[in-house]
Amino acid sequence: MNPVQKAAPPTLKKRRSPRAEEARLNHARRVERDALLRRFGYDPSAAVDYVLARAGALREPVLDIGTGKGRFLVALARRGLKVTTVDISAEEQRFARLEAAHVGVAARIRFIVGDAAKLPWRSARFGAVVSMNAFHHLDEPDCVLAEMRRVLRPGGTLVLADLATSGFRIMDRIHRSEGRAPHPHPPSRFARWRTRLRRAGFRVKSDRGCHQRVLVAVAPAASALVTAKK
Ligand SMILES: C[S@@+](CC[C@H](N)C(=O)[O-])C[C@H]1O[C@@H](n2cnc3c(N)ncnc32)[C@H](O)[C@@H]1O
Repeated sequence: MNPVQKAAPPTLKKRRSPRAEEARLNHARRVERDALLRRFGYDPSAAVDYVLARAGALREPVLDIGTGKGRFLVALARRGLKVTTVDISAEEQRFARLEAAHVGVAARIRFIVGDAAKLPWRSARFGAVVSMNAFHHLDEPDCVLAEMRRVLRPGGTLVLADLATSGFRIMDRIHRSEGRAPHPHPPSRFARWRTRLRRAGFRVKSDRGCHQRVLVAVAPAASALVTAKK
């Protein structure tokens, strides 16, 4: 090089903040996990889309029970909904926070650490109360469902989605392949809950698809509740 010629300036690499870098790595791990789930026959994005399609239009504010790593939560927020989410594990919520930040929906989400069997809100606070793939992890699913109903507004929608038997089988195969303990698989109470909700005046639809069971229940309107109490 001619000594009077100046060396070209180094190309400027965009620096990510440590937090953004952590979110990028978390997202990359999720993409890898999703690919593994798909190889075993469970497509998590298709499952979330299936549940959302069954749920139909949801009214805000939405409460999500069992944040986990936030697949369902982030999909709700990406639809433009304001969502509050509750999980007993701050560690699980940390992954969901990172993912929400990575896809740019964190501003629409409020994270609460707590037990869904004792929700900290007054009654009739939410327009929709939803939960996906969390119920088989709960110690007291009946109490949680009672709490979900309590905080739901009249006319609001309750969405309860969990793995179907075929979905549990896939998770078991994955856990076995990883040398982990079997996935929790308590007996399904969906049929009982469907009957109970219908008796309480909810309009209930239930479906199976994408290795999911889904129950969508619309609460009676306030006027119907008054009539029922008379
Ligand atoms: C498989 S994850 C849920 C998946 C998540 N909904 C998603 O779409 O990615 C189950 C979550 O339920 C949470 N959980 C278990 N018992 C709970 C309770 N009593 N109250 C709130 N969350 C609970 C666990 O900590 C775990 O994060």
